[in-house]
This record gives sequence, structure tokens and C-alpha cells, in this order.
Amino acid sequence: MGTLPDGAVSEADASSKVRQMFTQIAPRYDLLNHVLSLQLDRMWRARTTRRLAPILNRPDALVLDLCCGTGDLALALARHGPARVIGADFAHPMLLRAREKSARQSAATGQAPLHFLEADALCLPFADGSFDAVTTAFGFRNLANYQDGLLEIRRVLKPGGQIAVLEFTEPPDTLLGRSYRWYFREVLPRIGGVLSGDSAAYKYLPQSVSRFLRPEELSALMRAAGYRDVQHAAWTFSTVCLHVGVK
Ligand SMILES: C[S@@+](CC[C@H](N)C(=O)[O-])C[C@H]1O[C@@H](n2cnc3c(N)ncnc32)[C@H](O)[C@@H]1O
Repeated sequence: MGTLPDGAVSEADASSKVRQMFTQIAPRYDLLNHVLSLQLDRMWRARTTRRLAPILNRPDALVLDLCCGTGDLALALARHGPARVIGADFAHPMLLRAREKSARQSAATGQAPLHFLEADALCLPFADGSFDAVTTAFGFRNLANYQDGLLEIRRVLKPGGQIAVLEFTEPPDTLLGRSYRWYFREVLPRIGGVLSGDSAAYKYLPQSVSRFLRPEELSALMRAAGYRDVQHAAWTFSTVCLHVGVK
């Protein structure tokens, strides 16, 4: 059970298609992110950061932001501080942008720049029990195998460590939900296609959300993968959802 971009015939193929797609859209990713979410992405990341405040307030804590893309969540977590934050992603051009932003943030705040490294979320280059928290924003849905992703995150978490998965979800079938679906399926792929020059990537976005686990299903999968105290909160008319749990 994992993402399946059009034409993918295996998990390895799905993963490679996802990587290619994010490599290609990296130069316009931030612009599109803020435009297409009507800037709400900033608020969702800020809320996620607040939810992790007890860990971020500890100077000894180490946090991994997985599928970090251009680094916005990792940088928000680090601004909260004093915990140390590392970002990881498998699309190199995304990481280059994350490093540039971190250098700018560092120059403005005097904080050390963050480490961003290239890694596949399904095979992380970290020892067991390395992190106090692992976050992932709008990345988990793209994994070729969700169960393996949860198990790999669990492996690198310390006992008692926290997972936080922020993802899009399909809103209920109300008038508002239907309007949102129309925007997400009809309008967003067109704007995304024009601005990024990659219409396939912005067709993939609504497809991957509609194929993704419902919040209750993801909670159940997290429990089955060995997390306790699993909770989820739906935001912005149930279009995004934050799942948390403890190893
Ligand atoms: C929609 S972007 C989200 C980026 C960022 N977290 C944000 O909130 O803007 C999804 C990111 O997940 C990364 N990704 C997807 N599958 C991955 C995997 N198996 N390993 C590492 N990164 C992955 C992509 O390269 C992409 O940068």
C-alpha cells in the first residue's frame, strides 16, 4: 500500500517517478505551494511546530524532518528552537533550495545553518533510536509503501519519540467539500501545470490525495506499526490532517 503514479508498475518504479517529478518541479515548488494553498501552508506548518513545542524546547532534542523538500517545515521547527533539526529528502534540487534558505535564515538570526541530506525515507542512513521526533509534511503520501515508511520512522525514533505526519486529506461530501474537490481536481492542475511547466505533476497531486489513506485508516496503520497515543486533527475544513503518535 503506497503511492502509484500513472504508469508505475512496482514500488521501485513508483519511487523513481515521484523522485523525478519533484526534481523537475523544484525550481517553482515554493511559488506554487504558496499560491495553490492560498498561503495556508504556512499556517499548517506553524500549527505542526506548536504541537511539537515540548520537544523543540529541549536543547538536547534532535528532530528529523523527512521529505523536507525546500525546507520550510525544518526551518520553522528550527526557528522555534533550541532543539537541533535535520532535513532529509531524495530530490537533490529541493535540498539545494533548502540549503540556500537555511543560509539566509542563518545570516539573519545568527543560528547555525541546518543540515539537509539526500536520503530515501524508506531506507534512512541513521542508527536505530536517533531522534526525539520525526516530522513529515505533504511527503508521506508519496511513499511507495506506507507501512514500510512508518516502520522506518519508528526504527530511527528513540523510545518515547514522536512522529508527526501532516498530509492532505479528502474533505467530506458537503457543498464546501465538493467545491474544494472541484478546485483541487480541475483548477489546481491547470494553474500548477502552467506555472511549473509540468502538468503531470499537478494532475498527480489530486490523484495521490484521493488514493491516500483516510485519517482513520492512517491512524490504524500507525497503531499496527507499533505507535501508541495515536491521534489526528483535521484542519481547514478537513482538507489537511496532522497525525501524531509515540514510539
Ligand atoms: C510535496 S513535497 C513536500 C515538501 C515539504 N515537506 C513541504 O512541506 O513543502 C514532497 C517531498 O517529499 C519528497 N519525497 C517523496 N518520497 C520520498 C522518499 N521516498 N524519500 C525522501 N523524500 C521523498 C519529495 O522529493 C518532495 O520533496
